[in-house]
Amino acid sequence: MQTIGFIGVGALADYTIRGIRRGGYTAPVLLSPRNREKAERLAGSCDCIIEPDNQSVVSKSDYVVIATRPPDCLETLANLEFKANQTLISVVAGIDVEQLRSAVPDGLKIVRAMPVSSAEVNASPTLIYPDDEFTRKFFSFCGTSIVTDSEAYFNQGSVLACVYCWFFSLYQALIEANQGPRLPAKLSAELVMGMAKGAAELALAERDTDPGAIARSIATEGTFSKLGLDLLEAEAAFEPWREACRLLQKQLAAAD
Ligand SMILES: NC(=O)c1ccc[n+]([C@@H]2O[C@H](COP(=O)([O-])OP(=O)(O)OC[C@H]3O[C@@H](n4cnc5c(N)ncnc54)[C@H](OP(=O)(O)O)[C@@H]3O)[C@@H](O)[C@H]2O)c1
Repeated sequence: MQTIGFIGVGALADYTIRGIRRGGYTAPVLLSPRNREKAERLAGSCDCIIEPDNQSVVSKSDYVVIATRPPDCLETLANLEFKANQTLISVVAGIDVEQLRSAVPDGLKIVRAMPVSSAEVNASPTLIYPDDEFTRKFFSFCGTSIVTDSEAYFNQGSVLACVYCWFFSLYQALIEANQGPRLPAKLSAELVMGMAKGAAELALAERDTDPGAIARSIATEGTFSKLGLDLLEAEAAFEPWREACRLLQKQLAAAD
């Protein structure tokens, strides 16, 4: 049984570990002790072991997940001693393999992964670069592993881990726009999320068709769907989304 250890027990470690345990992952999970409160909660609810320090996590693990915030990542790694047969899994956004390599011994296997918080309900589409059998299987316990053999694709794909967050704000705006005397907030929320899930599932099932083409096939002449879509397009409602993606692309471009 392989042992995995987390250095940095914050939001990402929390949702990922809760997700993999919920998904049936049973092998040992070790935790760094900083952020004691969260580590203790995970130890109690998700059968994890809190180690006395970072080095002891590394020494006892086959796979080490570095899950600190980006500015802490390289310094934290540089203070650790790895063995040649270990694998480092970095979930840190914006720090590429070359930068990670500068902080760890030559020859250490390095994999990047980008799980999002839907991992906790086993629904994270987790981008992985490069392919690694254990990493792929591990993140399959909290969703779907999506492997790429290009780090440029990984960096560009990481933008979508942020788009994931913006979807929640869009849902909130749509819930508020529809709730009122004629639709209770709870029902509005259930319908907004249900429609979003249904649209995503149909688009995934019809991968060969552009989602834009699916929209046009629904919003035909004279429909209410077209009335609303025409207004959104006339107001260039999708342009700020494209702009926000471009902003993040620029920030992550340095890692290409
Ligand atoms: N959260 C997300 O939705 C998400 C999604 C994709 C990727 N990521 C990536 O995941 C990483 C972690 O994000 P997060 O949201 O989990 O951040 P977080 O909640 O701030 O957790 C990071 C944790 O690392 C700890 N830490 C810092 N230096 C450490 C060290 N030397 N040794 C041990 N622990 C140390 C921090 O402790 P202190 O608070 O005491 O400093 C904190 O508890 C980031 O690099 C981010 O880019 C996050």
